[in-house]
Amino acid sequence: MVVEQRFLRYAIFLASLLLSSLSSLNAQKGNYNSTAYLPASWINQASKSQEINGTDETTVLVLPILLRGSDGPRYVCGFYCNKVEDQCLFGVLISQYTPNTDNYLQSPKLVWSANRNNPVQSNAMLQLKEDGDLVLANSDGTLIWSSNTRGKSVSGLNLTEMGNLVLFGPNNEPIWQSFDHPTDSLLLGQKLARGQRLTASVSASNWSQGRLSLAVGSASFSAYTESDPPQIYYLSGLTYPYCEFRNGSFNGFTIPLASVAQFIRFEPDGHLKLYQWGAADEFTEVVDLLTFLNDCDYPMVCGNYGICSRGQCGCIETTNGQERYFNEIKSRQPNLGCSLVTPISCDHSQDHTLLELKNTSYFAFHQSSDKIETLMEECKSKCMSNCSCKAAVFYYTDQLHRDLESKGYCLLLNEVFSISNNERSVDDTILLVKVQNTHVNKSRRKTVILASTVGALFGVVCVVGSCLVLLMRVFRESNETEGDFLSKVPGMLARYSYENLKAVTEDFSKKLGEGGFGSVYEGALSNGTKIAVKCLDGFAQLKDSFIAEVQIIGSIHHVNLVKLIGFCFEKSHRLLVYEYMANGSLDKWIYGGKEKQSLPWSARRRIITDIAKGLAYLHEDCSHKIIHFDIKPQNILLDQNFNAKVADFGLSKLVEKDQSRVITRMRGTPGYLAPEWLSSVITEKVDVYSFGIVMSEILCGRKNLDWSQIEEDRHLLSVFKRRAEEARLEDMVDKNNLDMQVHVLEAVEMMQIAAWCLQSNFTKRPSMSLVVKVLDGLVAPETNLDYDFTKPSAVETGAAGDQGREAFHIASPLLPSTLSGPR
Ligand SMILES: *[C@@H]1O[C@H](CO)[C@@H](O)[C@H](O)[C@H]1NC(C)=O
Ligand SMILES: *[C@@H]1O[C@H](CO)[C@@H](O)[C@H](O)[C@H]1NC(C)=O
Ligand SMILES: *[C@@H]1O[C@H](CO)[C@@H](O)[C@H](O)[C@H]1NC(C)=O
Ligand SMILES: *[C@@H]1O[C@H](CO)[C@@H](O)[C@H](O)[C@H]1NC(C)=O
Ligand SMILES: *[C@@H]1O[C@H](CO)[C@@H](O)[C@H](O)[C@H]1NC(C)=O
Ligand SMILES: *[C@@H]1O[C@H](CO)[C@@H](O)[C@H](O)[C@H]1NC(C)=O
Ligand SMILES: *[C@@H]1O[C@H](CO)[C@@H](O)[C@H](O)[C@H]1NC(C)=O
Repeated sequence: MVVEQRFLRYAIFLASLLLSSLSSLNAQKGNYNSTAYLPASWINQASKSQEINGTDETTVLVLPILLRGSDGPRYVCGFYCNKVEDQCLFGVLISQYTPNTDNYLQSPKLVWSANRNNPVQSNAMLQLKEDGDLVLANSDGTLIWSSNTRGKSVSGLNLTEMGNLVLFGPNNEPIWQSFDHPTDSLLLGQKLARGQRLTASVSASNWSQGRLSLAVGSASFSAYTESDPPQIYYLSGLTYPYCEFRNGSFNGFTIPLASVAQFIRFEPDGHLKLYQWGAADEFTEVVDLLTFLNDCDYPMVCGNYGICSRGQCGCIETTNGQERYFNEIKSRQPNLGCSLVTPISCDHSQDHTLLELKNTSYFAFHQSSDKIETLMEECKSKCMSNCSCKAAVFYYTDQLHRDLESKGYCLLLNEVFSISNNERSVDDTILLVKVQNTHVNKSRRKTVILASTVGALFGVVCVVGSCLVLLMRVFRESNETEGDFLSKVPGMLARYSYENLKAVTEDFSKKLGEGGFGSVYEGALSNGTKIAVKCLDGFAQLKDSFIAEVQIIGSIHHVNLVKLIGFCFEKSHRLLVYEYMANGSLDKWIYGGKEKQSLPWSARRRIITDIAKGLAYLHEDCSHKIIHFDIKPQNILLDQNFNAKVADFGLSKLVEKDQSRVITRMRGTPGYLAPEWLSSVITEKVDVYSFGIVMSEILCGRKNLDWSQIEEDRHLLSVFKRRAEEARLEDMVDKNNLDMQVHVLEAVEMMQIAAWCLQSNFTKRPSMSLVVKVLDGLVAPETNLDYDFTKPSAVETGAAGDQGREAFHIASPLLPSTLSGPR
C-alpha cells in the first residue's frame, strides 16, 4: 500500500518533469520578469489584463508586473481588479504552475495587497521612483499608497521564490518587504511576529479591512474583534515568539506537507483556513485551523446583536407584547446582524433598560481578563451607569444557587457581537443587553427590568416562566424523594450530600475499581439510573477551588468523555458522581481472558477512534484546554454499546491546585509515560504518547509490560521496534483473535499511526485532532518514523517555533529512577 503510493508519487513526479520541460519550450510564462530596477512604472490597463473567474461569480482582471516560479507555486505581483466595479488593488497573487495548460496564471488568489482600503481604478500607476519610493497613484494622480522608502538607497523590486515582494538595496539586502506588512494571508515560510497581525477582509467582495484580527501576543496567539476593548474569541495559551507557517506545521498544529502551493487565510467570517492547490486546478480548503470553535462561537457569524442558534441567525425578540427593540439590518439576510430600533442615546440614559437573555453564551466571556466578581444587581448597575456599556455578561459562580446573594462573574461589553443561544446549557451565562425605551414611563420601566423575559430565538417560550416551573417541579420532586437533590435540572451539576451518596451506594459496598485518585463504587439513584461514585482521597484541603474545578469538569461535554453528573463537597468528603459505564474499563477487554477474544477488529478500531476524539476535544477545546496525564486502558470506559469514553479527565488540574502536590512530581503511570518526562518541557503531547501505547495494546491484545512473555518480548515497545526493523509488524497483531487476523493489514496500518504517536521527539508526534483526521482517512499518516520510542529527547531550550511551546515546566528534572517507582 505504502509502496504503491510511493511509486505513484514517483510516476507523477516523472510525468510532471517531462511535461514541464515540454511546456517551458512553449515559453508560456508570458515573458515576465521577476525583478525590476528603478526607475520603472506600470499603468493599470484593462486591455492588457487577463480575465479570471473570481469568487462570488465576480470577474477579476489581473495585470501582472512581476512573476516568479517556473515549477510548483507561482507568484505574481500586479494589479488585481474587480472588473464590474473597476476597483483595483496592487498586490501579490499565488497560483500553481500547471504543466498541462498554456495559462500561466490559473485560478490565482490574492495573498497580499498594498491598498485594500483604497482601491484604485483603471489607468492607475505604480511607480518605482528614482528616489527609491514605490508609490501607487490613482488615475487622477492622487497618491494612494507608498512604501515610504524614499531616500533609503533602494536598487530594485524583487518578487522572491516565497512570494515576498522586496525592495532591495545595493547589496541585495531587503529594505522593505511585503512579509512585514501582512494583510489577511500567510505564505509558506512567512512569520507572524509579535506585534504583527492578520486582519480579515469585510467580505469576499469587499476587500477592505474588516473587524476581526489574529495576532501573536506576548504569551498567546489570539483571534479577536477590532473593538475597544478587543473581544477575544480564540486564545491559544501556547507561547511562541512568533508564529511561522512551515512545511507541515503552523503554530503547533500539524498540517499537510506542502507538495503543491499552499496558503493560510484569515477569512472574513473569522475562520483561519489552509488552502492547497487541488486536483481540480484550483485552491481548495484543506484544514480549518481554529479547531473546536463551534459555528456560533465566531463573533460575526450573525453580525452585531445577532443570535446564533445551531448556525442559524435571528434577532432578539421580546415575547410578551412589549415593544420591539431589534430589527434585521437587511431583511431576509439575518446573518448580517440586527440593529436597535431606537439607538442608545446617552442624553436619555433614564430610558435605558437591560433586557435579560438567559440560555446564552458569549464568545468573549471565557477568555476575557476583565471579568469582575460581583452580585448580579451590581453588574447591572455598573452597566447602567456607563453609557458606553452596551451589555453585560453574567455568570453565577455557583450555578446551583442563583439568588440575590449569589456572586458571579460580570463582564461589561462596549459592543455586542453575535450571541450564541446556548446549546451547552451548563455554561449558562446571562446576557443583559441595553436598549433604549421610547416612552418615558417610570413604573413601566421598572417592570420591564424585572420581568423582561426574552425568548432567545424564533419566538421560543417564556424563559423565566419555564425556568420557574422547572425549578418548582424539581423542588417538589426533591421533597418527595429526599435524595437526588437537584439532580434533575438538565445540564446542571447536582450537589449531593454525603449521606445521600452513602445511601445510594449501599454504604459503599459495591466497589467497581480503584482509580488514580481514589476508589469507585456503584450506586443507583432513586429513579433507577446507575451511577459510579468516586471517593477522592487526599483532597480534603481543597475548598473553593474544588467546586470551581468541578464546575469546569462538569461543563465539558463530549460523547467520548465520561460525563460528570454531580459531586459532594461536605466537611472532608470530596466525591464525584459519574455516569455508569456498563462494560467497565478497557483493560479487561484487551488483556483479560474470555472477554478479549470477543472484541472484533471493528470494535477495536472504533474504540481507538473514540479515545482519539475524546482527547482531541480535551486538548483543543479552547475554553479549557486539559492535559489528561494518565491515559491508560484502566481510564478508558466502555458503555453498553462499546462506545469508549475517557475517564478521570480534569482531575490533574485538581492536583495542580493542591499546593502539597505541585508539579515537582511526575504524573501518570509507569509504562505509559512519554520520554520527555525526563527533560523539562511537558505538553499535551504526553497524552499523545500514552495514547500510542494504548493503541498498540489494543491492536496487539497484550499489556505494554507483560511478564508472562520471554524476556526479549516483555516490553511491547521493544518488540515494536524489532518488528518494524524486520518489516514484520503483522506478527504483532493479536494472534488470539481470528477477526484481528482477518484484518491484519488494516491493523498494521493502524500500528503505523501508533508509531507516529510514539515518536520520542514530542514535536514529531501528531496532535490528537490530526490523529482523528488520519483515522478518518482524511489525511495520510506520516511515514518517516523513528521506531526508537523510548529515547529521551534532547532538551531544546529557548529554541523558536515548535520547540518553544510550553504547557508548563516541571520544577525539577526527574531522575530515571523515579520512573520505576509506584505513584
Ligand atoms: C523585463 O526587464 C527588461 C529589462 O529591465 C525590460 O526591458 C522588459 O520590458 C521587462 N519585461 C517585461 C515583460 O516587463
Ligand atoms: C469562467 O467560468 C466560465 C463558466 O463557469 C468558464 O466557461 C470559463 O472558461 C471560465 N474562465 C476562466 C478564465 O477560467
Ligand atoms: C530575488 O529573489 C530571488 C528568489 O528568492 C533570489 O534568488 C534573488 O537573489 C533576489 N534578487 C535580489 C536582487 O535580491
Ligand atoms: C466595504 O466595507 C467598508 C468597511 O465596512 C465600508 O466602509 C465600505 O463602504 C464597503 N465598501 C463597499 C463597496 O461596500
Ligand atoms: C515539504 O516537505 C515535503 C516532505 O518533506 C517535501 O516533499 C516538499 O517538497 C516540501 N515542500 C516545500 C515547499 O518545501
Ligand atoms: C465607561 O466605560 C469606558 C469604557 O469601558 C471607560 O473608559 C470609562 O472610564 C467609563 N466611564 C466611567 C464614568 O466609568
Ligand atoms: C433554557 O434552558 C433550559 C434548560 O436547558 C430549557 O428548559 C429552557 O427551555 C430554555 N429556554 C429557552 C428560552 O430556550
